[in-house]
Amino acid sequence: MTGNLGVHRFRAVSDCTALIAAFFGDKKEDKVRLRLKYRKPTTFPCNAGSRFSFTALVWTLVGLLLVFHLVSICHKDNIHHGEIQSRTSGFLRRPIYHELEVIEEVKNINIPPPRGKRSSRAPKRKHHKRFSPIIEEFLDEDSQLRHVFFPNRKNSIDPIGMTGNDSSYYFPGRVWLDTDGNPIQAHGGGILHDEGSETYYWYGEYKEGPTYRAHKKGAARVDIIGVGCYSSKDLWTWKNEGIVLAAEELNATHDLHKSNVLERPKVVHNEKTGKYVMWMHIDDANYTKASAGVAVSDRPTGPFQYLGSKRPHGCDSRDMTVFKDDDGSAYIVYSSENNSVLHMGPLTENYLDVEDVMKRVLIGQHREAPALFKYRGTYYMITSGCTGWAPNEALAHAAESVMGPWETLGNPCVGANKVFRQTTFFAQSTFVFPIPGHPGLFIFMADRWNPSNLRDSRYVWLPLIVAGPPDQPLEFGFGFPLWSRVSIYWHRKWRLPSGWSTLR
Ligand code: DGJ
Repeated sequence: MTGNLGVHRFRAVSDCTALIAAFFGDKKEDKVRLRLKYRKPTTFPCNAGSRFSFTALVWTLVGLLLVFHLVSICHKDNIHHGEIQSRTSGFLRRPIYHELEVIEEVKNINIPPPRGKRSSRAPKRKHHKRFSPIIEEFLDEDSQLRHVFFPNRKNSIDPIGMTGNDSSYYFPGRVWLDTDGNPIQAHGGGILHDEGSETYYWYGEYKEGPTYRAHKKGAARVDIIGVGCYSSKDLWTWKNEGIVLAAEELNATHDLHKSNVLERPKVVHNEKTGKYVMWMHIDDANYTKASAGVAVSDRPTGPFQYLGSKRPHGCDSRDMTVFKDDDGSAYIVYSSENNSVLHMGPLTENYLDVEDVMKRVLIGQHREAPALFKYRGTYYMITSGCTGWAPNEALAHAAESVMGPWETLGNPCVGANKVFRQTTFFAQSTFVFPIPGHPGLFIFMADRWNPSNLRDSRYVWLPLIVAGPPDQPLEFGFGFPLWSRVSIYWHRKWRLPSGWSTLR
């Protein structure tokens, strides 16, 4: 449902229609015209004696403006259409985009009968009735539907062992093995494309060991192990580069002590200093420290040296990301004010600290898991709602500047079925990055959390396509900017266009 753009268009068009109706005559206007007919003509003082009506002139000007405006919209749409067509009909492009944009439906999931009617041997649900029945099923480790959300290990994506038809295909939700045959451990992660080595690095939370609650009412957690790093040339085959920032085993006062929380690490390369800088969410087991930590390394594969944590701009900071712009400036984005507002602010030139500048955006909207990206001069962001480890509906947002104002476009999820779309395909955003040589094509990375066994959380990677009119507000906008469409297409299996990596 990429509908918001549609809504904007509709509103702009319906406003135009209303004005046209007003100008060319609905009933009200007929009365006005009748009144005008029997009214003494108003003449311009500068042109005494002219029989030209002043009101008619004003209406004529408004009309011309309107016609000009409509023509310019159509012109823009035509240009855009041409642009997309030439873009997609170019070498190897059209079929590729088509394949990714196919709307793939999933049959509605039948929820097993309520517990009362289930077999007496069926295990009792552990969750409170806070969520919809399907999310209750998702959270229930004993659910009969478990395999739908967490396919069995025998269905793993194994880039080394897999040959034939499934080679190079992403299967959202399946266990994904590294080149050693072990499940990839890089949750809440992000991708760094290292231009020097033409290598992709995937950093994320290395979740191992048992899932437990520090307190009866605390969130499910695992001890910190550290930040895992994997490298790849093809974005499908990942080599484990080890733990590049490790937990602290002994010093209980250290931020990285295993009893604390380290989430959503993101790495950016600073061209001026040559350093690789990692930012991450640092917290205590109760999520009250609410800070952002920073670490630095000379190499993408670490080891990263931990420099410490702070509350950026003096504010609580939980889910976060960093975004590096084309001009080399970088920004931190974090959920603040008890997750009710997103804060955005530039990092210092060396990326090791935050500048004393901050904008509050999406105020009161309770969004987290921000993933920012840019396309043709416009900034886009995907966020989730705040429901702990349970999935919820994603929203896409757009802005002309990182610092806002940000406008919400709507739910970007397309295909599958309603419940999949309303739960971000049972996952939560973490990062979005572009596919070189394919304008408007991105990979949307999300986590399908498994709160009863966090280390067995899965990855949901899907194609995200930005397509639509140029990202400029209308010249005479009527206050309704036209943003491009942001769509995340569900696919049970999909792959990148062949040869994409040679198109850099
Ligand atoms: C949702 C966040 O997005 C995750 O990173 C994690 O902090 C969980 N909440 C904890 O419940």
